[in-house]
Amino acid sequence: MWYFVSPQIVFGAGALDAIDGLKGRRALVVTDGPLVELGLVDRVKAHLDKAGIEMHVFDGVEPDPSVRTVRRGAEVALDVGPDWIVGLGGGSAMDAAKAIWVLYERPDIDPAAINPFDDLGLRQKARLITIPTTSGTGAEVTWAIVLTDTEEQRKMGLGNRENVADMAIVDPVMAAGMPPQLTADTGLDALTHAVEGYTCTWHTDLSDGLCVRAARLVFENLPRAVADGSNMAARERMHNAATCAGLGFGNAMAAIAHSMGHVLGSVFHVPHGRAVGLCLPYTIEFAARTAPERFAELASVLGISQAGGEAGARALAARVRDLSREIGDPTCVTEMGIAREAYEARLEKLVDDAFNDTQVVAAARMPSFEEMERLFVCAYDGDPADF
Ligand SMILES: NC(=O)c1ccc[n+]([C@@H]2O[C@H](COP(=O)([O-])OP(=O)(O)OC[C@H]3O[C@@H](n4cnc5c(N)ncnc54)[C@H](O)[C@@H]3O)[C@@H](O)[C@H]2O)c1
Ligand SMILES: [Zn+2]
Repeated sequence: MWYFVSPQIVFGAGALDAIDGLKGRRALVVTDGPLVELGLVDRVKAHLDKAGIEMHVFDGVEPDPSVRTVRRGAEVALDVGPDWIVGLGGGSAMDAAKAIWVLYERPDIDPAAINPFDDLGLRQKARLITIPTTSGTGAEVTWAIVLTDTEEQRKMGLGNRENVADMAIVDPVMAAGMPPQLTADTGLDALTHAVEGYTCTWHTDLSDGLCVRAARLVFENLPRAVADGSNMAARERMHNAATCAGLGFGNAMAAIAHSMGHVLGSVFHVPHGRAVGLCLPYTIEFAARTAPERFAELASVLGISQAGGEAGARALAARVRDLSREIGDPTCVTEMGIAREAYEARLEKLVDDAFNDTQVVAAARMPSFEEMERLFVCAYDGDPADF
């Protein structure tokens, strides 16, 4: 038995207008400081004003939000008493909003313990709207929440189907101002979701099409969106791609590139999309020998290679690296300027945490502890994962 979970999705230029018809008294917008300065919160306020909803703002979300931040946000929510929580921003703000909403409804819950198995009983006090301002994480449509345990330098994959948003507003205008590097990094996150969602063992007939479509949209539009941020056609397709990929992997699973990327993020503060995009080709190569079928099939459907089997899978890995180079993203850890000594000093932690990361469970080829270590070494030096 499988579930397919999704918010109501309003998308395309002008989607923010959907706010105008909302019913409610107070909204708490959960976001970060730069997005206030960029005027994106004001845009949302203009629509909340039309709906007659009073806006309050919690703008304390940092990239890769911590449990502490979520607790602070929940205190604000308990103080304000909103009937709408609005997660406005990249994955960090949207994930924080999901967790703040859970704590607002259920102050008895430890955020690190939000899991898929308990009944949370949400929607007694408020409902959730997500508005992405990056085109990458798909967090607007997933029920996943990624929080960072800052003391342990560890990312935790949390979430419960109930905490999916009620409405996702996917308006490309909100992502139009992303600088090229952010566009590139977050676009690689969307591609990684699409590839991992398609190739993980939990993929389904309902998630497959979304992943294929998302991957195609990224290959076709990401270089254009990075090269010319004013290309709104490319921006819109990338915004849709991220949401498609979110629906795809969010109703299947991610895989090892996410396990590895999470720890590169929590230990070396590499932005999420850059980290998972860098790891993706190594994990495809790792699967190529013993479990190449789904990767080769994806390469074929996307018109990358008709070779099939291992060769097809390797062609997909090469195509991902080509895209990374084209948009100026690193293809190995050395290119990110992380010193070998620093990397080696943390290698055991990297391997250990990646090995224990929840995203690994549905990988096409399950790595042993030693194989995970070899993957991290290959990713550092830029050697193909040929084992
Ligand atoms: N819940 C999920 O399903 C899911 C999936 C993937 C990633 N994630 C999580 O999402 C987080 C990463 O999210 P992200 O990559 O979107 O980045 P982010 O939310 O961390 O934002 C990165 C930076 O970009 C800025 N920014 C955002 N939108 C902007 C815009 N339009 N213009 C200019 N600057 C802008 C932000 O202010 C911030 O400083 C990570 O914590 C990751 O683990 C969650
Ligand atoms: Zn991701």
